[in-house]
Amino acid sequence: MSELEFNVSQVQWAQYRPQLREIRRQVFIMEQNVPRELEWDDKDETALHVIAVDSEGNGIGTGRISNQGQIGRMAVLREWRNRGVGGTMLRKLLWMASQAELPTLYLNAQQSAIPFYRRHGFVPVGDTFIEAGIPHQRMQLRPNSTTAAPST
Ligand SMILES: CC(C)(COP(=O)(O)OP(=O)(O)OC[C@H]1O[C@@H](n2cnc3c(N)ncnc32)[C@H](O)[C@@H]1OP(=O)(O)O)[C@@H](O)C(=O)NCCC(=O)NCCS
Repeated sequence: MSELEFNVSQVQWAQYRPQLREIRRQVFIMEQNVPRELEWDDKDETALHVIAVDSEGNGIGTGRISNQGQIGRMAVLREWRNRGVGGTMLRKLLWMASQAELPTLYLNAQQSAIPFYRRHGFVPVGDTFIEAGIPHQRMQLRPNSTTAAPST
């Protein structure tokens, strides 16, 4: 990997908890001012998780999918955004969901991230709502979306 390259893989929460929590702490709690008590919930224990790491193995991004099919906690460190890390993580999560035969996939997108999820086949469902002080939009994967195997 060159210094700008990254790698995305599925990881176990029990093993990677400190690294995954640190990425989410920086992005949601420090940058977006999400209250701690909203950030940490009991879904992490049972969700499937991905981590993105840089060429030195440092955590730079994470995301999860619950066994109900909810994608969430998508976070990429600010200095790594707009380089395809989030998209690669999302494709990996969609692939993992298809392998686990999870039900219809959905997520609550921050309004600013709607175009990002749209590009990956999600469509808005219902009205905007406020969560942790941030406008959100429920989105659902289009039923006819195809899930290609991720490249990493
Ligand atoms: C939302 C988030 C996870 C996306 O991660 P990301 O790594 O920036 O995502 P990508 O790089 O794959 O795509 C983001 C944009 O970069 C562009 N992009 C993708 N690859 C690129 C590349 N190689 N070079 C330049 N631009 C690229 C995409 O077109 C996309 O455009 P958009 O801003 O119109 O959506 C990230 O912005 C984030 O952590 N935000 C803060 C937390 C947050 O809001 N989480 C979402 C909660 S719903």
